[in-house]
Amino acid sequence: MEYRYGKNINYEDFSSGRVLYHISGMTNFPVRLAQEIYGRCIEYSRKKNNICLYDCCCGGGYLVTVLGFLNQNTISRIIGSDIDLELLEVAKKNLSLLSEEGMDNRIKEIDNMIVNYNKESHAMAKESAIILRSMIKTPIQYEVFQADALKEIKLEIKPDIIITDVPYDQLVDWKGSGEGLVNRLLDVLYGACTSDTIIGLSMNKKQKVKNDKFIKLERQKIGKRKFEVLRKR
Ligand SMILES: C[S@@+](CC[C@H](N)C(=O)[O-])C[C@H]1O[C@@H](n2cnc3c(N)ncnc32)[C@H](O)[C@@H]1O
Repeated sequence: MEYRYGKNINYEDFSSGRVLYHISGMTNFPVRLAQEIYGRCIEYSRKKNNICLYDCCCGGGYLVTVLGFLNQNTISRIIGSDIDLELLEVAKKNLSLLSEEGMDNRIKEIDNMIVNYNKESHAMAKESAIILRSMIKTPIQYEVFQADALKEIKLEIKPDIIITDVPYDQLVDWKGSGEGLVNRLLDVLYGACTSDTIIGLSMNKKQKVKNDKFIKLERQKIGKRKFEVLRKR
């Protein structure tokens, strides 16, 4: 796959655990790939700005927070849900960084770490935090809530774009059992979308998307992952 939207630059300011919060059990999604999937979704979307972005398996909110920073001109709202309450607490903290106030609080935390431990990693975190703060143009509204994405998702606002990195075997398992869980997820997402919602699903190569309720707009393989872009039929 040739990248069209994810620039080939250094994304280390977004390293999980540096400025963005990290706890064990969280996965790190490649930033360049996240931006590529978002770019392709928006290419198919009728709506090009004021985007409501939703991740139904948001974990610690890393993917959506990074997209929030990189797409200040187009994203106005982010919604995240996950089955794991502990990860959702981290997602809230990460999404709070998308406002100047939230980032100022994070910079204070990092300053305290510099005073108490004086590690080089903390000095680097401060530099990255200042860079990320300078990227903020307007605060992005956000909300997170607990939901089992294989059962029912109740959304008051229907998202324009859904991007999700679905669970995969050893890394982070699906909390649910049975065959074809990606397709069950799509059945649930069907009720959460409008006919204009564009879905970017990232998964490992073993998972097969076959759901007649959706039209496949694109399928790309990249390393160990693949992603598909879909819309309601
Ligand atoms: C690959 S991780 C996604 C990580 C996330 N994109 C991030 O940036 O941190 C998959 C997530 O799916 C969640 N999950 C597993 N089963 C689920 C279910 N039935 N409903 C909702 N979320 C689920 C896990 O808790 C995990 O956070």
